[in-house]
Amino acid sequence: MLDQTMTLTQYLIEERRRFPQASGQFNSVILAIALACKALSRKVAYGALAGLHGDAADGVNVQGEVAQKLDVLGNDTFLHCLRWGDNVRGMLSEEMQDPWLADPGNGAGGDYLLAFDPLDGSTNIDVNMSIGSVFSLLRVPDSGRPTRVEDFLQPGSKQVAAGYALYGPATMFVLTVGRGTHGFTLNPELGEFLLTHPDLRVPEETQEFAINASNSRFWEPPIRRYVEECLQGRNGPREKDFNMRWIASMVADAHRILTRGGVFLYPRDTKDPSQAGRLRLLYECNPIGMLIEQAGGRASTGEAPILQVTPAAPHQRIGFVFGSRREVERIERYHAEKPEEREHDTPLFNMRGLFRSIA
Ligand code: F6P
Repeated sequence: MLDQTMTLTQYLIEERRRFPQASGQFNSVILAIALACKALSRKVAYGALAGLHGDAADGVNVQGEVAQKLDVLGNDTFLHCLRWGDNVRGMLSEEMQDPWLADPGNGAGGDYLLAFDPLDGSTNIDVNMSIGSVFSLLRVPDSGRPTRVEDFLQPGSKQVAAGYALYGPATMFVLTVGRGTHGFTLNPELGEFLLTHPDLRVPEETQEFAINASNSRFWEPPIRRYVEECLQGRNGPREKDFNMRWIASMVADAHRILTRGGVFLYPRDTKDPSQAGRLRLLYECNPIGMLIEQAGGRASTGEAPILQVTPAAPHQRIGFVFGSRREVERIERYHAEKPEEREHDTPLFNMRGLFRSIA
């Protein structure tokens, strides 16, 4: 049943051999996350039978979004699995206004901070479509004082590990510890993640893009231009036809891109001027950014590398573009052009256009 395949635990032990001083905390944290994901995977697999479809009784989360029962269970599961072992000193989640911080009086000595979204793509829960969990692991800054929420405000380039679980037809755990991006598939009989996709690589070029086109009237000109050129296909400047996909779960879209390429855009737009984008920097964009870059792709705000952004707030939102390197670089180039250079013939967005602005 095991063939020659390595388990996640074996993979982590092999990695640890490279760091003889390692205490085991790091592996303990990753395995605790994997345990939380396995527990959630079981719940998800029971669908409506688990009684976990629908909204949570106490309603709205810190993002002003309606929390689903599975969001709340996911959050509790992560907290429960990660509190054990005194390895994490703080946990920040989409579902909590303030992070959980280990009690400094309790000898809390963990070296790590965990930021996570326990259930990504919540609108897919009730319709039985792919959802996921996504996490980012940081080191506790060396400050000598008790941990504070500001300690999470580190750029994504400081992440020591990042990953996600995808609850799709098969459950997968995709991980980077800074040496490539590797995919493990859950063997439900063994209850183990097995290394099935070592060294994932995002192809440099693609003919597939993912964007919620219902927001097109709110897009900025560089994004309009990019999408319009894709839609023009082989008759347009790109001289090739493009395909479009949108799963409405960033983890699932990222997984497709990690396996067969493509580009994902949730750009900054003018839909809600109080928000600089839809996705959360610390526990959505940064971990996916690290996984994509470790797989040879590129992750960006649309203008600059996402992993270079210094976060201003724990639940900060930001524009996010990632995927095949050349496509992301093209989008950054379009943003870098001066406004006078941005005047393009945009038939798909003008009065007779397919995506005519009605704003
Ligand atoms: O909250 C994040 C998220 O669910 C992502 O996983 C997904 O890509 C996006 O929001 C879906 O947004 P929309 O509802 O605009 O399609």
